Amino acid sequence: METREAVLKRKSVRDFDAGKTVDDSTIRSILELGIRAPSAGNLQPWKIFVVRKPETKKALAGAAFGQRFVSAAPVVLVVCADRARAASGYGRRGAELYCIQDTAALTENILLAAADFGLGTCWVGAFDESRCMEALGIHEGLRPVAIVPVGYAAGNTAGTGRRPLDEIALWD
Ligand SMILES: Cc1cc2nc3c(=O)[nH]c(=O)nc-3n(C[C@H](O)[C@H](O)[C@H](O)COP(=O)(O)O)c2cc1C
Repeated sequence: METREAVLKRKSVRDFDAGKTVDDSTIRSILELGIRAPSAGNLQPWKIFVVRKPETKKALAGAAFGQRFVSAAPVVLVVCADRARAASGYGRRGAELYCIQDTAALTENILLAAADFGLGTCWVGAFDESRCMEALGIHEGLRPVAIVPVGYAAGNTAGTGRRPLDEIALWD
């Protein structure tokens, strides 16, 4: 698939086909593409949790204020920023800004790669960080940035609009 096609095909999916599983090798291929994302100084300050256990998915859906489609997906990825790793290269700017930008780039790569594999995803950012960390059993150094349920879409997902480019792009 061309980049253009993947970018246009990707949309947030919140209704997953419960009967269709996603195998580990597909998830692995998606993550291999994900980690090709750029990062400041190529420090790659990230960890990705691949969650399949129903009880953990349920806890993540709870952390995401009851967004139930999170636990309905066959696989849930949680992208976390490794603050200490980013700080080792860039101090406070690394810990507060770069690791968030780096993990955002990683997350978008994952969404596009999943679209390339015909899979639906949704970037879930509305969640209680402490509850998410508790669900994963992680410590302070790792900050969960995005919860990404992954699965085959149950039906057609309506597309969303965008503000006109001329309202956004400023040409000199
Ligand atoms: C940082 C961020 C946080 C988001 N959080 C949520 C969320 O908690 N729940 C949800 O259903 N969608 C969430 N979304 C998805 C957006 O609603 C969606 O990307 C937007 O409406 C555009 O639609 P599209 O992804 O289909 O193009 C989030 C997206 C981003 C980038």
